[in-house]
Amino acid sequence: MTHRFIAACRREPVDRIPVWMMRQAGRYQPSYRAVRQKVSFLELCRSPELIAQVTIAPIDELGFDAAIVFSDILVHLPAMGLDLSFEKGEKGKGDGGPRIANPVRTRADVDALKIPDPQKDLPYVLDGVRAIRRGLAGRVPLIGFVGGPFTVASYAVEGGSQGFTRLKTMLWADPKAAHALFEKLTRAAIVQLEAQIAAGAEAAQIFESWLGELAREDLEEFSFPYLARIAEAVRKAGVPSIFFSTGTTSHLERLATLGYDVVSVDWRIPIADARARAPGVAIQGNYDSTLLLGPVDNAVARARAMLRAAGPRPGYIFNLGHGIQVGTPPETVKAVVDAVHAFTWK
Ligand code: CP3
Repeated sequence: MTHRFIAACRREPVDRIPVWMMRQAGRYQPSYRAVRQKVSFLELCRSPELIAQVTIAPIDELGFDAAIVFSDILVHLPAMGLDLSFEKGEKGKGDGGPRIANPVRTRADVDALKIPDPQKDLPYVLDGVRAIRRGLAGRVPLIGFVGGPFTVASYAVEGGSQGFTRLKTMLWADPKAAHALFEKLTRAAIVQLEAQIAAGAEAAQIFESWLGELAREDLEEFSFPYLARIAEAVRKAGVPSIFFSTGTTSHLERLATLGYDVVSVDWRIPIADARARAPGVAIQGNYDSTLLLGPVDNAVARARAMLRAAGPRPGYIFNLGHGIQVGTPPETVKAVVDAVHAFTWK
């Protein structure tokens, strides 16, 4: 029988509303922190056994309706020729983050980038996918993912989480170099998704977290054509596709035409408006993850209110507007998951 998560992606009726949360495997969980005591983030991303362990833990602990491969949107950058590291968070100085020692700044830098061969360069991701499928034994579907071209480019060009001005300036100062970069990142995204799906991923999400930085005409020129090609590749591979971004609900009708089955929306739009404005796709979202840091009664009440507002029409997946935050009490996450599962229209 089709699982309720896959059914919702396809806008088919479900027995109850499926729920999963972006960044559901991470530092808010004691079990994840215990693993990270022993290995660095990149070591974790390169171990199929640990990938399977931390991917499955939130399913067992919190009861989500879908698993997402534990990895990162930047794991393929070393295979493309970029020197990626994750800085250890220093006490009181934030959590650390990605750093690229040789960022992409010129047309020559773009031309030097290689397209990764997932079987050769990222075998641990594919072995991880197979190990997760064995461990899940059909309990819930597995979502594969990649980063969207603009979001990955922002790290590749800026050298880390340092804003967007260098990348955006490249769009206008050297549009040919920018297109060449997006072309390579699009091909890299497609080969990774095809490989993850062949290894057993049952849906695919594109994380285009920072797309809200672009004006509409720049989206039309530098983003949407590439995103449509990724959607088409996933469609050909035969699994549902989910498009995630933030700060983009002013473009929702247009995003719904790119070819994705599901469009994920952030908390800046009322969920009922999102569903009414994009009736041809399933909608995922759009709970404010900060609610999970507040009182549990309020978190549960707001989840129920969101479900009522989303309405009974098929094609809705409960998720956050962005990822779970560090410091979120797992008990609050569990209370919200249970509330979604208990929700009925009767
Ligand atoms: O959702 C999941 O449970 C799957 C795992 C996952 C991670 N990163 C693990 C991770 C996914 C889907 C991602 C995607 C990702 N990575 C995005 C897009 C999603 C989003 O949140 O916008 C982005 C922008 C990145 C790049 C990245 N990776 C940054 C900026 C950071 C540092 C910030 C942070 O949260 O520490 C990471 C590191 C990272 N990726 C961690 C995790 C669990 C924390 C690393 C640690 O354990 O110390």
